[in-house]
Amino acid sequence: MQSQKKFAKAAKVCKTCKNTAVQVWQRRFAVAQSNPFTPTFGIVPPIMAGREELVEELSCAFANGLGDPNLCTILAGARGTGKTAFLSFIADEASSQGWIAAKTTAAEGMLEDILQQATWNAQSFLDNMGGRKLKGLTVGQLVGFEWENERPVAGNWRTQMNRLLEQLDEYDIGLLITVDEVKVSVDEMKQLARIYQHFVTEGRKVALLMAGLPHNVSQLLRDDDISFLRRSRKHHLGRIPDFEIREALRLTLQEGEKSMGPESLDEAVAAIDGFPYMMQLVGYCAWSEGGAEEELAPDAVRRGIARARKEMIDGVLEYTYLELSQGDKRFLGAMLQDEGESSLAVIAERMGVRSNYASQYKKRLLEQGIIGERVRGYLRFDMPVFREYLAERLQEEDELA
Ligand SMILES: Nc1ncnc2c1ncn2[C@@H]1O[C@H](COP(=O)(O)OP(=O)(O)OP(=O)(O)O)[C@@H](O)[C@H]1O
Ligand SMILES: [Mg+2]
Repeated sequence: MQSQKKFAKAAKVCKTCKNTAVQVWQRRFAVAQSNPFTPTFGIVPPIMAGREELVEELSCAFANGLGDPNLCTILAGARGTGKTAFLSFIADEASSQGWIAAKTTAAEGMLEDILQQATWNAQSFLDNMGGRKLKGLTVGQLVGFEWENERPVAGNWRTQMNRLLEQLDEYDIGLLITVDEVKVSVDEMKQLARIYQHFVTEGRKVALLMAGLPHNVSQLLRDDDISFLRRSRKHHLGRIPDFEIREALRLTLQEGEKSMGPESLDEAVAAIDGFPYMMQLVGYCAWSEGGAEEELAPDAVRRGIARARKEMIDGVLEYTYLELSQGDKRFLGAMLQDEGESSLAVIAERMGVRSNYASQYKKRLLEQGIIGERVRGYLRFDMPVFREYLAERLQEEDELA
């Protein structure tokens, strides 16, 4: 039996712009008492943990429109931190505020993709509206309008987009372009950035939200041809605080009419270690180990955590490890000797280098989301299970050497 449930953070009002449209938190989720967790890449989970401030900022930006600096935002985050899911979530939020979204991934052909998606979505959006201006109305409230404008065919990409944007403007509809997996090596990515700048100076109602792995984002921002992007809002999608993970885990279980005892919740939260993909893995595996019981037994949760750790290695850690340089490995290897946080000065000493040399590795690894620095000069592993996995891999490499 399917039932519809509301997300607990419904109808949140934004502190800055009082925009009740932040009701995007009010996601509906169909539950068939089936596993509600989503350990699959790119899927918006039924309950988003954390990220609330960022959602608020972007929601306000759609309400404020032209001139809001958040309308051009770039997100950097390690694998599995929720970049793709966040882009989709925000695209839904934009739609609920009378914007249409064109979602693409950085690759050749992306400009055509944006044009086609924008045209298609504009048509379906306008098909559903009563010929009125959209402001203050949501898609569901609009019916019966015939959209006669087909995709403009003549002219280059910019001209065609401009025509489309003009048509949208007549109905006060904005266009959000989301680009996932940004890469400076994709020429069309740079073209998009250059043309987007023209859209902005021409006063078009447009927004550009980009996401990518930290080193790809840094490279993009270093490119002199598109230095304009350096003025975009930059955010790091990092670790989510334990209390937010705990609440999201509890609520997701509740969506599926299950629960965990407080001690099991503590164990699960510790294993998740603030990492979104791991939250989905732990939840999913614990659920499937739990059988028919409403409260998942502590043993089932432990078995679930063990399975999740293994899948975390296969899905994220192996690839992350392969991207490490020898210097990165030496730096991380030097951290293994400490149980908790490691001081940068001590790491440098163990590596036999000066602190400012070790700092270069620190910067890279921080950027990649592999380590975190809560207190200045003190570092810790920021990806669940990575410490144990690294220790094993480094030992294997030593044995082979
Ligand atoms: N805020 C969140 N709270 C809970 N789970 C989340 C959150 N964001 C994403 N997830 C879940 O985490 C997993 C990874 O998300 P996603 O695919 O968006 O990551 P990503 O950063 O795009 O990874 P990649 O760099 O490999 O593309 C998915 O299972 C998704 O459902
Ligand atoms: Mg992704």
